[in-house]
Amino acid sequence: MNQNDLKRLVAQKAIEYVPLNAIIGVGTGSTADLFIDELALIKDNIVGAIASSERTKQRLEGHGIKVFDVNEVESVPVYIDGADEIDPEGNMIKGGGAAHTREKICASIAEQFICIADASKEVKVLGKFPLPVEVVPLARQAVARQLSDLGGQPVWRKNADGSPLITDNGCHILDVHGLNITEPLALEIQLSIIPGVLTVGIFAQNAADIALIATEDGVKVTEY
Ligand code: 5RP
Repeated sequence: MNQNDLKRLVAQKAIEYVPLNAIIGVGTGSTADLFIDELALIKDNIVGAIASSERTKQRLEGHGIKVFDVNEVESVPVYIDGADEIDPEGNMIKGGGAAHTREKICASIAEQFICIADASKEVKVLGKFPLPVEVVPLARQAVARQLSDLGGQPVWRKNADGSPLITDNGCHILDVHGLNITEPLALEIQLSIIPGVLTVGIFAQNAADIALIATEDGVKVTEY
């Protein structure tokens, strides 16, 4: 199986975790896209969804799934999303798709975070994948200096044409290389209070409750 087959396998498995007649939280990325396609097959069994990005909103609506504004929803039973890395405790790095701010907001109102990923995302220690940090454009250089002082190498994320990537929130992304994240929660808190940081892509405060990991032998289920 190639990586896409594994992503599809885990997307199909995740349907078992969708409660009937509920509004659910839906993540962003290629794995989440495949999950949305599976969700479309059972769309009459759910009330709708909250979306973690404009991309996800469009895909959900394209399938005829009602999308609620997060302000309209007090909580959701499950938030289902991919990850760039996941460690043995369920801590994650997210934001490879530049959506981690809204992803973290959706996760924060979810009773359960269900991470769906292929086995290549499992790591012992977070940090090989550059840590995405969403920043207010005015503060980009100031934040970058602080990240460098902490031992990271921040790189301003650009589009293929060289223009700055602008997030759904009108902000920029710094991808921080060279971090060995042995204490994810402490680093998440430390980086989150730097003035100008909108959201850090460490998900320790909102770690996974359940991980569904696709392997060649099937989907491995881990509850934290
Ligand atoms: C988007 C994310 C994604 O969940 C993460 O990048 C994984 O993406 P994919 O499923 O395409 O591998 O955090 O901001």
